[in-house]
Amino acid sequence: PSQGLVDRFGRRATDLRISLTDKCNLRCTYCMPAEGMQWLPKQDLLTATEIQHLVQVGVEHLGVRELRLTGGEPLIRADLEQIISGVRHAHPELPISITTNAIGLAHRAAGLNQAGLTRLNVSLDTLNRETFKRLARRDRLEDVLEGVQAAVVAGLTPVKLNAVLMRGVNDHEAPELLAWALANGLSLRFIEQMPLDADHGWTREGMVTAQEIRDSVSTRFHLTPHPADRDGAPAELWDVRERSSDADDPGEPAPLESRPVLGTVGIIASVTEPFCGDCKRTRITAEGEVRSCLFSHQEFSLRDLLRDPLAAGESAEQRDRRIADHWRAAMWIKPAAHGMDPSETDG
Ligand code: GTP
Ligand code: 5AD
Ligand code: SF4
Repeated sequence: PSQGLVDRFGRRATDLRISLTDKCNLRCTYCMPAEGMQWLPKQDLLTATEIQHLVQVGVEHLGVRELRLTGGEPLIRADLEQIISGVRHAHPELPISITTNAIGLAHRAAGLNQAGLTRLNVSLDTLNRETFKRLARRDRLEDVLEGVQAAVVAGLTPVKLNAVLMRGVNDHEAPELLAWALANGLSLRFIEQMPLDADHGWTREGMVTAQEIRDSVSTRFHLTPHPADRDGAPAELWDVRERSSDADDPGEPAPLESRPVLGTVGIIASVTEPFCGDCKRTRITAEGEVRSCLFSHQEFSLRDLLRDPLAAGESAEQRDRRIADHWRAAMWIKPAAHGMDPSETDG
């Protein structure tokens, strides 16, 4: 493709994220109100065939190199396996991942692997059942942990864990979550809460910052910057070493840097250390609209272009080019940055 999804600021989007549904079986306070939302009618959602078609246009005409399926909760879609196997069949080399809460994954991990899923990320904010009930407003921690286990067994690795820390709710759990992730061979990333909740309950003061997260984790672990290039990834990675010295060791404690690296931890500082300048994402909503940024709300629907019959004398190839042009136009006006952090703006 001569022209990819380039914007006014010279960024090129190669990472396609498609939302499969707005629905979810949890009600995380940082995301949804207790009563849920006004769910989209089924006919407004992209079908499996339409999703496969969009991926094909993205890959063949726009330089898309990676696919992530999200929600809501993507496992809510009964045809998730079918969507993945269709995409896999058409694009044998395309990395395909999902971001999920892992409920129901215990029964589907093997099948998803077989369908062609490459890897997955799981949202896990706490290991405490009561805290989970308070945060996700559902008593489903056991299902989530079973799902994570099943993903590892199915070989959907590396499994990444996403933890949003909420002040006074689960922020004291950071070192424990990390210890658990390391012991289980999972890559944990802590995420600053973003103003994405439908209740508009987010405040800058309420948000646990990346600095606070580093400080909290450092009470138990020694962190040093991970050497590999970040390459536009949202998470800043840190190598993790044990901090406490061995109580049985009578000699001089070994310097922290000489201890073995236990693994890494990521911190996604979307608000205080934004990475918009390196963003490689293009998003499609569950209804088939292009969203150039998580925080943009322009309407650029591709759904009707997918659904309308071919224009008179038009080939399928020409129609795909029309869809690609529309998608490109939506991405061209991608905002430079999200501007979430009031302290970042002058005046
Ligand atoms: P991989 O590292 O490739 O596994 O993906 P990821 O971390 O981008 O995906 P995931 O869906 O797990 O998202 C993790 C977190 O990244 C989200 O909770 C957001 O906080 C943040 N994030 C994802 N997409 C965006 C984005 O477009 N903009 C910003 N600012 N943050 C994002
Ligand atoms: N701020 C930060 N991360 C969020 N997520 C959902 N809502 C928010 C928010 N307001 C995370 C989930 C999931 C990922 C897709 O986004 O924890 O892991
Ligand atoms: Fe569901 Fe994810 Fe939102 Fe939690 S954050 S309510 S798991 S969509």
